[in-house]
Amino acid sequence: MTTTALAHELKPYKSLSNDELRQRILAAKQQLGDRLLILGHHYQQDEVIEMADLRGDSYLLSQMAADSQDCRVIAFCGVHFMAETADILANRPEKLAERGGERVDVILPDMAAGCSMADMAAIEQIEDAWDELGEVIDTQDITPVTYINSAASLKAFVGRHGGIVCTSSNAHAAIEWAFAKTSRVMFFPDQHLGRNTALGMNITNDQMPVWDPYASELGGNTEQALENSKVILWKGHCSVHQMFRPEHVAMFREKHPGIKILVHPECPQEVFELADEYGSTGKIIKTVEAAPPGSKWAIGTELHLVNRLKEEHPEQEIHFLSPVVCMCATMYRIDLAHLAWSLENYLDGTPTNLIEVDDETAKWSLVALERMLEVK
Ligand code: 13P
Ligand code: SF4
Repeated sequence: MTTTALAHELKPYKSLSNDELRQRILAAKQQLGDRLLILGHHYQQDEVIEMADLRGDSYLLSQMAADSQDCRVIAFCGVHFMAETADILANRPEKLAERGGERVDVILPDMAAGCSMADMAAIEQIEDAWDELGEVIDTQDITPVTYINSAASLKAFVGRHGGIVCTSSNAHAAIEWAFAKTSRVMFFPDQHLGRNTALGMNITNDQMPVWDPYASELGGNTEQALENSKVILWKGHCSVHQMFRPEHVAMFREKHPGIKILVHPECPQEVFELADEYGSTGKIIKTVEAAPPGSKWAIGTELHLVNRLKEEHPEQEIHFLSPVVCMCATMYRIDLAHLAWSLENYLDGTPTNLIEVDDETAKWSLVALERMLEVK
């Protein structure tokens, strides 16, 4: 008779102190050695970041997963689309061949760590929009570009239709790449990243209709608006960055003369345009690191990153660009308890929370992701 081991329950981990959890995570790290790679996105809470082997923005984390050599398991302290991307890149055919067919397991410590923006575009909605657009304009002349903050099914759609994935650090280059192929671009799911980037390429708002998947016809647009379009934007946004407002910029400028406003390009146009500098989370960090002591900043991105920058740069004056708390509640779901629980389950041969993209979706997503990694 065989007995099947049961996975540990999460509940007991919730009552352990952070110190106990840290010890258990460190013990798991020691046991797994080079086989384990813990990746952490910059928005994670400090105690999780402390456990990460590598931290980065979405682009860098994708590169790290793509380049990983010795590891056989990645614990992704980020959100669902990031873990999917890591699975696709770490297990692409050439890497599998190098490892004699051995897969890299990708764990998302809490399966509920999703992204509200990614959830604003379902594959069925994208396919419907594409078909409907085809009744008005030639879809052969549209290159789809998806922000990496999207489900793997959207990345696969983009791969199949000659398109590309972008991150906030290469959106400009990705849209340029797309315009070298066709005269129109469809950009999803973040309208703000799409708009802010295209405005910097001399494309005007009247050339950027917004496609609302819940509108009864043509995404809420006229035929004329679609015919005049250069970039068709999807009606999606980040609920965190949406909360930064122009009046917050005005308040900081008035109270702190000389202050610089530094924002993530997921912020709405009216805030983005008022900023002095912008960039991905990685670029925001580099900008602060490179600034002379005594510089003053109001930063419009997720709270945990801004608080960490404040801690790490006491020589600079750093403010959070909002009087209200803007934090990514789904990133915050990853905590030490989930990390310890998922690592111990893995070690004990009862892995939980494995992210595995099906072969067909992975194959086409990879086409679009490889283009992303080539375009910078
Ligand atoms: P980057 O880390 O690419 O700047 O992205 C920010 C973000 O919102 C991740 O979801
Ligand atoms: Fe998604 Fe916004 Fe959270 Fe990034 S910050 S993971 S875009 S909800």
